[in-house]
Amino acid sequence: MKLAKRMDIIPFQPIRIIVEEATRREKQGEKIIHLEIGRPDFDTPCHIKEAAMNAISEGKVHYTSNYGIPELRDVIAEKFKQDNGLVFDPSDEIIVTIGATEGIFLTMMALLDPEDEVIILTPSFPCYAQCAKMAQAIPVFVPLKQENDFEPVIADCIEKITSKTKMIVINTPHNPTGAVYSETILKELAQIAIDNDLFVLSDEIYEKNIYDGYKHFSIASLPGMHERTITLNGFSKSHCMTGWRLGYLASCRELIAGLIRIHQYVTVCATSFAQYGAVAALKGSQEDVEKMTGEFNRRRIMMVERLLDMPGLSVFKPKGAFYIFINVENLGMSSQDLSTYLLDEASIAVVPWGDMHIRISYANSYENLEKAMDNMEAALKKLDVNFL
Ligand SMILES: Cc1ncc(COP(=O)(O)O)c(C=O)c1O
Repeated sequence: MKLAKRMDIIPFQPIRIIVEEATRREKQGEKIIHLEIGRPDFDTPCHIKEAAMNAISEGKVHYTSNYGIPELRDVIAEKFKQDNGLVFDPSDEIIVTIGATEGIFLTMMALLDPEDEVIILTPSFPCYAQCAKMAQAIPVFVPLKQENDFEPVIADCIEKITSKTKMIVINTPHNPTGAVYSETILKELAQIAIDNDLFVLSDEIYEKNIYDGYKHFSIASLPGMHERTITLNGFSKSHCMTGWRLGYLASCRELIAGLIRIHQYVTVCATSFAQYGAVAALKGSQEDVEKMTGEFNRRRIMMVERLLDMPGLSVFKPKGAFYIFINVENLGMSSQDLSTYLLDEASIAVVPWGDMHIRISYANSYENLEKAMDNMEAALKKLDVNFL
């Protein structure tokens, strides 16, 4: 018995490897502080849970429209209009998906042919490259650099465009760096897309996790972008609903007509009662969302301050999302070795990212994060490296 050939190029999610190692150690009685996970640690707000429970009690337990329940598509359309200046027809320009993750898969499968090239700004959420590969397309990586605040350099993007380039993936606020792209950069990226007739996948799932007065801007709101952009969002990060598996995407009806056919065959529809919860999430008070952002910000400030004081680390102060991306090359060990060392010596789980970086998530309690910083500082001091 053999797996399909395509599986040779689809690796196991590296973040899951760390989670599993940390969990294994916890089972043996170790206490690990989790800084590797990308999920808000808060509970889903009560009014959202109640709406979903009511939906179950009322028997709203059946398949829904493939696009999602009309009530939810209406509030999503309203949200896009209010928050992002985007106008979509809820009847056929919005799909409710099983998390934004499904949206990435649908986009790649519906829009890419084998051998098409997809520009991915790296570091990046791993799903883009893997889904592109599942569609037999070729990920083409354009590095983001700390000296540019991890915003794309337009010349670097143009350099990688060939006659086969079909799509560019944009993610702002950004996982893993916490960068937030400026409107100016997004306008320049839009121009590249128009000049080269590219699709744009704009992943805006961290839209609500944004700090220091930075503003989120949706590339699809620019002239000429509605018809070539898939705007992706979801409830996981904004409303602490990772386990609900609910996301949504929107585009022009011609592209949605393709994506919906893949969606029909892989999932049929998002979970019925979860969708009713999501209606409450968007219709109800956004006070909880603001409170969570405030708490993330408090943690971000403390963590960045602590990390900047630690030897050998080059820390980028994030403007959005809930991660801190750290260059560790001055420590003289690989990011993988450092992650294992921190698990052994500091009982903290972090994600190695490439050879030179680690990603730390501050989706954990303030107290745990303080303890993690104490442990990490002590562990790094033990390394006794001579720093410049
Ligand atoms: C950039 C980015 N996009 C999409 C997702 C997936 O979100 P969802 O839970 O909606 O599938 C994540 C999850 O970590 C993410 O970081």
